[in-house]
Amino acid sequence: MNNRSLPLPCLLRSLHLPLNSSAQRMVPPKFSLLFWILLSSLVILLINYPVKCDDDEEDNLFLGINKYRASLNLKALSRNKNADCLAEKIADQFKKQPCTNSTGANTVPGTEPQFSNYPDLLTKCHLAISNTRDGSVMPACVPKLVPNLVLANFTKSLYSDNLNDTTYTGIGIGSEDNWIVVVLTTNTPAGNFAPYTSNGANLISRSGLIFCSVLFLVGNIFLL
Ligand SMILES: *[C@@H]1O[C@H](CO)[C@@H](O)[C@H](O)[C@H]1NC(C)=O
Ligand SMILES: *[C@@H]1O[C@H](CO)[C@@H](O)[C@H](O)[C@H]1NC(C)=O
Ligand SMILES: *[C@@H]1O[C@H](CO)[C@@H](O)[C@H](O)[C@H]1NC(C)=O
Repeated sequence: MNNRSLPLPCLLRSLHLPLNSSAQRMVPPKFSLLFWILLSSLVILLINYPVKCDDDEEDNLFLGINKYRASLNLKALSRNKNADCLAEKIADQFKKQPCTNSTGANTVPGTEPQFSNYPDLLTKCHLAISNTRDGSVMPACVPKLVPNLVLANFTKSLYSDNLNDTTYTGIGIGSEDNWIVVVLTTNTPAGNFAPYTSNGANLISRSGLIFCSVLFLVGNIFLL
């Protein structure tokens, strides 16, 4: 096929990279392979890059809670993607409610708001009552999610009893506006929030899909 050397210059042109015609003729096949490898690494890198802005508060709280656990000689909690998802959905339900002295960490136990669509929230996160029953949901409301106030709402309230509990091994965190929600999980079938197959597999299939779309797009450019 004599048009094998065409994709690279086309691609470079579409990326607005300068390439003079003599270089175009001299591009060895190895370079084009290298280019593809570089391009795919770039794509994978971009996919892995966190784009959500409220991740900072969540990561701060995650580190803060594990520091607190360490101070009590307890094992660190590991992040659970499905619990993250549920925490995010619950925070979304709370977000319109204002902070008062009876919401969030100040709630009198037993008077926590119930959401009638809770089963739907579980379903959206590929979860069921059966594998979340032993988990614990802890919402807190802190204007602007000031980091040290957020942490104190968990470590210096009734919630600290849960954080000081060896039953829990995993954690999910989600936030919306002034609300931040922590979901604790266990390592038993009734509370493990059966995490997605595996992070790695999930990531590979996702980046694989996007990489294929990129190839498809590039292929189209080439056909033009
Ligand atoms: C909460 O605030 C209300 C008024 O805003 C007050 O009457 C009540 O005593 C407060 N409750 C607590 C537990 O501080
Ligand atoms: C929780 O955050 C609120 C701000 O919304 C703050 O007034 C309160 O003192 C915090 N509670 C604890 C136990 O730190
Ligand atoms: C944590 O739990 C242990 C054992 O249940 C208890 O002795 C300790 O006082 C608790 N610490 C805090 C800070 O709640």
